[in-house]
Amino acid sequence: MGRREVILAEMGLSPIWRLRGCRSTEEKPSKKNHWVELKRAVSGCTACGLHKTRTQTVFGVGDENADWMLIGEAPGAEEDRLGDPFVGQAGRLLDNMLAAIGLRRGENVYIANVLKCRPPGNRNPQPEEVAKCTPHLLQQIELVRPKLILALGRFAAQTLLSTDASIASLRGRVHRYAGVPLIVTYHPAYLLRTLPDKAKAWEDLVFARKTMASL
Ligand code: URA
Repeated sequence: MGRREVILAEMGLSPIWRLRGCRSTEEKPSKKNHWVELKRAVSGCTACGLHKTRTQTVFGVGDENADWMLIGEAPGAEEDRLGDPFVGQAGRLLDNMLAAIGLRRGENVYIANVLKCRPPGNRNPQPEEVAKCTPHLLQQIELVRPKLILALGRFAAQTLLSTDASIASLRGRVHRYAGVPLIVTYHPAYLLRTLPDKAKAWEDLVFARKTMASL
């Protein structure tokens, strides 16, 4: 055990908590192993009934050391087929939203969903499914250690913030989830159906960018 590990162990801290920005060769395998274990756990997960109807799990994608973490609801049909989040029409809009604030999928951005399996027929996730899947999301957050989370849509926002408040009332403020600052905006699929709210989403992104600059 290295000196830092000894100090962390004495403080009762897991090595996982000191990985942001660490580039030393002794530390890399540990974080890598955590990712490997987590990906394996998710791909083999049978904790709720969704494993029976999924084509595959949709783990998450992007820069595993990103400052930005975007969290959506659950995979849809395209995501279930291809295995990555936000790869359908909503995903293309999400990429454009990211570009509007100078970001690109995979570059300082990590994208995940609350649920890792597609609810059949794109029905709403059930509370039991969310409860079973949340530990996976929490571990992803712990590993990425983002500076800011952007919750995409009502479902992600209400789930992460344990509230039934509307998106309208949650926007424009900095909340916290798992200790990380969190900002709420509309889901890109909703924006595809409700064009006038695109301007509000733009405000949210500008607010998020300003908040990130202040962190
Ligand atoms: N909607 C989501 O919330 N997540 C996806 O991955 C795709 C669509």
